[in-house]
Amino acid sequence: MKVLLVGNGGREHAIAKKLLESTRIKQVFCVPGNGGTATTKGCQNLSLNIDDFQGMERFVMVNNIGLVIVGPELPLSLGIVDYFQQKKLMAFGPTQAGAQIESSKSWAKQLMLEAGIPTPKAAVFTNPEAAKAYVVEQGTPIVIKADGLASGKGVTVATTVKIAHSAINTIFRGEFGTDNIRVVVEEYVTGQEVSILALTDGITVEPLLPAQDHKAIGEGDKGANTGGMGAYAPAPIVTPELMERIQTEILEPTLAALQKRKIDYRGVLYAGLMITDEGELQVLEFNCRFGDPETQAVLSLLETPLEDLLLACCKQRLGDFAEIRWKSGAAVCVVLASGGYPGSYEKGKTITGIEAAEAKGAEVFHAGTQLKQQQLVTDGGRVLGVTAVGETFEQAIAKAYEAVDCIEFEGVYCRRDIGRRALADKS
Ligand code: GLY
Repeated sequence: MKVLLVGNGGREHAIAKKLLESTRIKQVFCVPGNGGTATTKGCQNLSLNIDDFQGMERFVMVNNIGLVIVGPELPLSLGIVDYFQQKKLMAFGPTQAGAQIESSKSWAKQLMLEAGIPTPKAAVFTNPEAAKAYVVEQGTPIVIKADGLASGKGVTVATTVKIAHSAINTIFRGEFGTDNIRVVVEEYVTGQEVSILALTDGITVEPLLPAQDHKAIGEGDKGANTGGMGAYAPAPIVTPELMERIQTEILEPTLAALQKRKIDYRGVLYAGLMITDEGELQVLEFNCRFGDPETQAVLSLLETPLEDLLLACCKQRLGDFAEIRWKSGAAVCVVLASGGYPGSYEKGKTITGIEAAEAKGAEVFHAGTQLKQQQLVTDGGRVLGVTAVGETFEQAIAKAYEAVDCIEFEGVYCRRDIGRRALADKS
């Protein structure tokens, strides 16, 4: 089977490499892909934009592609899966209606309230002054969220009223889109965040291994938020008992609520949860896609062929799987970023040492990289995800950082504490 994979992140490189482990997968075409997918045997990049549905359809028809896999939320929210379904072509991911669970925070909040899913108290505003008055009434800390997609930049944890008001102003200035502007003002809850990436065929919902990411740029989870500076799986804080509760209190009721709205949701249902200090579960957000960099860690442990799972979701056959098989042990992904990220940074820096890193037993997934005149150069904020598997977290962490230390590019930055929280939780 040949696959068309939409996206250009570390998540997509990890999906492509996992698919190519199977002898059934002949080739993976990436739209537009990155320097990693350009150099991975069996992968080929296509110079198409992720919103060029017609161009992709032509390629799929001419090249007899068996499955389209959509990585990022943007094309999902623009209706790429609806487009392919209308053409009777197989595409993995929810339809535009289902993708609202990520593309509209207020829509997702309403769904959660109707379904009785535990989530922090929130109010939705279309008027900035009303939102600001509500902040004053509630006090801080408080969470300000842009309603629509914001490339991971739409959430502010405001510790003062001034910060909250400034975040509200930014949203209403149209920073994250000018259509139908709304802001969600949410109660601040503390605890540990976990990422539950679940697969669903619209009937059954099957969680993958629980993961945690490190969103802050600085060690000790300090500093500005990023797309994710590293991740690990399986998250020890999610005990089997807690996973059972996540299944029955969150995943199944969410799927039922989607069904009630006549939404045939097939794809990834990603619940971003807070496990509070009291052990309560609170859903902070849902995403309609695989997480990045959680996917790099989770898929490193997957044994069941990924294409079987994704095809089962598309064909409503997920219930046929008695279980999803996993390797034993732990996986850790350390992100190497460009100096200055998540603020401004330079691109085009030569990258060396990837082969040496992989010789240490790690896998290096590319994110912001590009192949320029046969030379690998940086092309984004998050550049590489160095991922290692070990029998224990200690081993996985040691192997990942041994590999990290082989890689060089001007300005390279990474956190040195990825996975340490897992060690603490285990003990
Ligand atoms: N790692 C967070 C996300 O994928 O949204």
